[in-house]
Amino acid sequence: MNNEKKSYFATVARGLEAIAAKELEKLGAIDVSPDFTGVHFRGDKALLYRVNLWSRILFRVLMPIADVKSDNAEQLYQSVYNFNWEEYLQVDDTFAVICTGSNKNLNHTHFTALQIKNAIVDRQRKQTGKRSNIDIENPDILINAHIVENCCILSLDSSGESLHRRGYRPAMGLAPLKETFASALLELAEWQPDLPFLDPLCGSGTLPIEAALKSLNIAPGLYRKKFGFQSWKDFDRDLWEELIVEAKESQLSQLSAPIFGSDRDPNILKQARSNARFCNLEKHVQLIQKDLSEIEAPCDRGIIICNPPYGKRIGEVEELGGLYKLLGDVFKQRFKGWTAFVLTGNKELAKRIGLKASRRIPVNNGSLPCTLLKYELY
Ligand SMILES: C[S@@+](CC[C@H](N)C(=O)[O-])C[C@H]1O[C@@H](n2cnc3c(N)ncnc32)[C@H](O)[C@@H]1O
Repeated sequence: MNNEKKSYFATVARGLEAIAAKELEKLGAIDVSPDFTGVHFRGDKALLYRVNLWSRILFRVLMPIADVKSDNAEQLYQSVYNFNWEEYLQVDDTFAVICTGSNKNLNHTHFTALQIKNAIVDRQRKQTGKRSNIDIENPDILINAHIVENCCILSLDSSGESLHRRGYRPAMGLAPLKETFASALLELAEWQPDLPFLDPLCGSGTLPIEAALKSLNIAPGLYRKKFGFQSWKDFDRDLWEELIVEAKESQLSQLSAPIFGSDRDPNILKQARSNARFCNLEKHVQLIQKDLSEIEAPCDRGIIICNPPYGKRIGEVEELGGLYKLLGDVFKQRFKGWTAFVLTGNKELAKRIGLKASRRIPVNNGSLPCTLLKYELY
């Protein structure tokens, strides 16, 4: 087996770098060092595969392959042209280039990506008379280019499609949380599987499903059809299959504590049930159609995590005040002994809960700055 250690950079939503670093350490990464919207780490090939298979929080794992000069478009073209792409990309592989970052001469990511693509295919043509086709949707090799000042970091994307696309959610509610973000909320709330879990506004079921995956020690990557590294030249199929078997064997058959989700909307709940069924979790996650006003505590202690609508994307802010007040009343009157977390992007609405938050954790839900409010209910 190839135990050579390489450097990687895992991308993650802004603000989640520290918990992503902890997750990477638990998976066996070394030299873990959080950065802005990402974490540097080192490890061997087995670790790279394991991180893709098991991470609940990361978006992508990049493997840097070159750091080239990129003062301007011509210099970038030339340095990309000079790079030994044959080591990673064959003419019968399809590829795509995604670019992030900018400098004063390269300030359109689309244009920068085009320069890189042109340099690669021109080199291939010169060397072999043939060139790779571009496939934006499903490339064999996904190249990530990140411009910082006068440098361009070129990486191969080992994940391919972002890891938040677990594959279990073909159906979506109105404003679903990203799967990775739901998992991050469970971490931020320090939920442990031996504590009953409830999301009374569960929508498409993302929070209860992610909670169940964690509780049953199910690797979220098991539902995905493909990872980027599977079409790399050095793909080790035996190693990958070993890791899949190991993951399947380490699944638990029973939750340590019950997991509930409810929502008043029968159509959204249908989606939640279909998502849970996709993951074979329908026997584990109890999804119930209920209005918040009718909810009773199913156990004498537990954790609630929910994200009520906050008026940016669905529902009008004015109409939502009543829902936030109801949330506070229900917590106070019926959930003594529980801890509740509410994710909101609207401070005025949060005040309508009418309870004193014991913690306020700033988080970004995509580009929306939000707060995760913690309430101890006694
Ligand atoms: C922002 S969405 C939650 C999305 C969910 N976390 C997901 O990932 O799909 C808010 C949910 O609250 C539900 N909701 C709003 N008012 C409600 C009420 N009074 N009782 C129960 N559910 C309610 C809506 O139907 C909607 O599905």
